[in-house]
Amino acid sequence: MRKEKIIVFSGAGVSAESGLGTFRDSGGLWEKYKIEDVATPEAWNKDAEKVTAFYNMRRKQCFEAQPNPAHHAIAALEKKYDVEVITQNVDDLHERAGSSKVIHLHGELSKVKSSGPSAEKAFYEQSHWEVKMGDLCPDGYQLRPHVVWFGEAVPMLEEAVKKIVSADIVIVVGTSLNVYPAAGIIDYAPKNARFYLVDPNEVNVPQSFNVIKKTASEGLVDLVKSLNKEKP
Ligand code: OAD
Repeated sequence: MRKEKIIVFSGAGVSAESGLGTFRDSGGLWEKYKIEDVATPEAWNKDAEKVTAFYNMRRKQCFEAQPNPAHHAIAALEKKYDVEVITQNVDDLHERAGSSKVIHLHGELSKVKSSGPSAEKAFYEQSHWEVKMGDLCPDGYQLRPHVVWFGEAVPMLEEAVKKIVSADIVIVVGTSLNVYPAAGIIDYAPKNARFYLVDPNEVNVPQSFNVIKKTASEGLVDLVKSLNKEKP
């Protein structure tokens, strides 16, 4: 029998309880750093060392963090459902909690690539948190993080759209839905799907959403329990 398909669309809030800061909440990352200094191709061209240091700091935090109950609850959905996680996060906490199908729209901190013209062709595992200036790709260019910067294309978008068009249930968690094209992904879900939003704060979503105004771990543990109960 076909399992029902759940798409989980996650953002920084799902990892907040693992100690990884969000971007736009008060005290968030974009209050401490300017996007144009650390997260654009122009920033890299101007000061690659500063950009490298920023992502080293984030990679270290990510490697030290542990999945929280929200990541584990999402992974537990796989017992009863066909689950695809589409995340804007560059951490690997969904995978480490056991989710088997994860699409990273904005890249992954555990991978690096060339900063030269072959950037999109090959990725390399980065198992240590620190990338040093002078660490080069086989093509001779400095390694840069495998993340999508503002102003860059989102190569995994098409793949993500292909998945969400056949969703039965969509769970949006921990994202302010501010950053496009990623945030637009939910518009591709079938209109008759069931929609849930888990976020402790106000997020602008269509009326079709069941809003669960709780933190990711509280909200998802409850939601997953009740969804799994539907499938004895
Ligand atoms: P934001 O920082 O914009 O939004 C975080 C969301 O998480 C907000 O809606 C918060 O209310 C919510 N939140 C905070 N604590 C939470 C908790 N404990 N449980 C659940 N939700 C909580 O982060 P994103 O929407 O992920 O892109 O940001 C999208 C993109 O903007 C990121 O992927 C990144 C950033 O710039 C790039 O760098 C390209």
